[in-house]
Amino acid sequence: MTTSIANEHTLNSSDVQVRPATTSDVPEIFDLIGYWASKSQMLVRPMPNIFENLRDFFVAEIVTEAGHEFVGCAALHVLWGDIAEVRGLAVKDGVRGGGIGKKLVSTCEQEARRIGIPQLFAWTYSVGFFEKCGFELVDKTRDLHPRVWSECLRCPFFAGCNENGMRKQLAGVAMPANLPEPPPAHVPPGIR
Ligand SMILES: CC(C)(COP(=O)(O)OP(=O)(O)OC[C@H]1O[C@@H](n2cnc3c(N)ncnc32)[C@H](O)[C@@H]1OP(=O)(O)O)[C@@H](O)C(=O)NCCC(=O)NCCS
Repeated sequence: MTTSIANEHTLNSSDVQVRPATTSDVPEIFDLIGYWASKSQMLVRPMPNIFENLRDFFVAEIVTEAGHEFVGCAALHVLWGDIAEVRGLAVKDGVRGGGIGKKLVSTCEQEARRIGIPQLFAWTYSVGFFEKCGFELVDKTRDLHPRVWSECLRCPFFAGCNENGMRKQLAGVAMPANLPEPPPAHVPPGIR
């Protein structure tokens, strides 16, 4: 999967812009996540789920004189008052390694800071990438926030989860005041 604008130009990082997603981005978000899901790199995300969570999503575009071209997406999903998950992160195959993924995660982080969330979480197979974004691996048999299991019930690997849990504490963001206790988690079997 390559992009036509990227093929014709040498990309500068300033050519890549990240903005909140709109309804017309949904088919491309769906196709890109489906592409990586078909390569077992992420979970497939049904189109209704993308529409329902559209305000979580950001898209990355290459913007040049030749026009705009969708090259990636990521979502920040609030799980509780003290934690949000970076999910649905995907960059087109032909433009990986150019800083687009990092820019998308950084936008999610800015959004978490804006709404006062002190911790980011991600389920991933791309541990090295998230480490470059300042995340650390967590032992999923202990110490995980109960809300990180929120989507696990729809995962085909609910029993036999092989994803890595990673988190990032956002320096300077205080815990919200009057934070209620989260409900009990549906933790996959074999985890603890
Ligand atoms: C993971 C993914 C989003 C990274 O996007 P990207 O645009 O290629 O990443 P970037 O160019 O921003 O990389 C940022 C840094 O991470 C490093 N990096 C990227 N992928 C890496 C990997 N798999 N392992 C180790 N390091 C990696 C880059 O070398 C770069 O390092 P630098 O800051 O020292 O230059 C992209 O490869 C992708 O879409 N993969 C398939 C879907 C997927 O795995 N999504 C994540 C599900 S949570």
